[in-house]
Amino acid sequence: MAEELINKITDISETLLIPLYARAIESQTEKPILIDKKAVEITQELNKFFLKSDSKLHKALLKGQVRRRLRKKLNVTLALRTRKFDRYCIDFLDKNPDGILVELGCGLSTRFPRIDNNTLTLYDLDFPEVIDIKQLFFKETDRYHFIRSSVVDFKWMEHIRNQNKKILFIAEGLFMYLHEDDVKNLILTLQKNFPGCELVCEVSNVYVVKLLKRKIWKKKFQRDYHFGKDVTLQFGIKDGKDIEKWNEGITFLDEWTFFDDTENKLGWMNFLGRFEKMKKAQWVVHYQLN
Ligand SMILES: C[S@@+](CC[C@H](N)C(=O)[O-])C[C@H]1O[C@@H](n2cnc3c(N)ncnc32)[C@H](O)[C@@H]1O
Repeated sequence: MAEELINKITDISETLLIPLYARAIESQTEKPILIDKKAVEITQELNKFFLKSDSKLHKALLKGQVRRRLRKKLNVTLALRTRKFDRYCIDFLDKNPDGILVELGCGLSTRFPRIDNNTLTLYDLDFPEVIDIKQLFFKETDRYHFIRSSVVDFKWMEHIRNQNKKILFIAEGLFMYLHEDDVKNLILTLQKNFPGCELVCEVSNVYVVKLLKRKIWKKKFQRDYHFGKDVTLQFGIKDGKDIEKWNEGITFLDEWTFFDDTENKLGWMNFLGRFEKMKKAQWVVHYQLN
């Protein structure tokens, strides 16, 4: 079943496998950055199918090493990213105990079991074919909901309107795959429909996006990660405050880079954090939308 469904997803959706495996692999290392039993359980199921698969990505995931030259560092960076998103969610719930979390482009995110405090309400949104896979591993409940929709088809917002609760939207590994107009419309519509909400999103730097649009770099990027031909980065910003300029009422709150936690497991990569351009090649930004 999982096999058929995984074969149906688009190149872009297939990228969800990389953070899932990163969390599972990192969980099983010494002094793990995070512990994610559900990701381990899901990958063990998927491995049964990947063992028979011809896909280069599936084979690399089985070895636990997607990008050869980065070796296991990719798993470390993705685990750090997820831990930071978890912390944003936990901080938000501390301040807003009856607040709602909405995870845009959730893929096979395992955040609900990781941070559930027995009162958490979380909506996971992704394309219908991704939610079909998700339903093999998770049950919807009165606190954990799935929304089967593209994030840019704004009808999905009806599912969470009129709740009179504070909302935190999170977008981990999503915005870089959307076009700038779509990201802009999405943020402005969130602001209009949910005034006072917060958004934590991962963003790419516009210089990286421009570079990867060049044919030779695009091919290299796809080859390095074993991505399909439709995977390209589309959207980037120069500075976390750029998005404030899109409308009055959008406030930059803070930001986080992969190097901010001074994690020993990053090893030589920590050196890159000394250079502003490398530090903010891809990073996480937190906004308030009033
Ligand atoms: C790199 S994965 C990240 C998954 C998850 N957030 C995580 O970190 O494990 C990107 C996800 O975004 C989803 N995605 C891409 N474009 C989307 C869109 N227009 N609407 C909804 N989801 C989208 C893909 O299906 C995929 O699940």
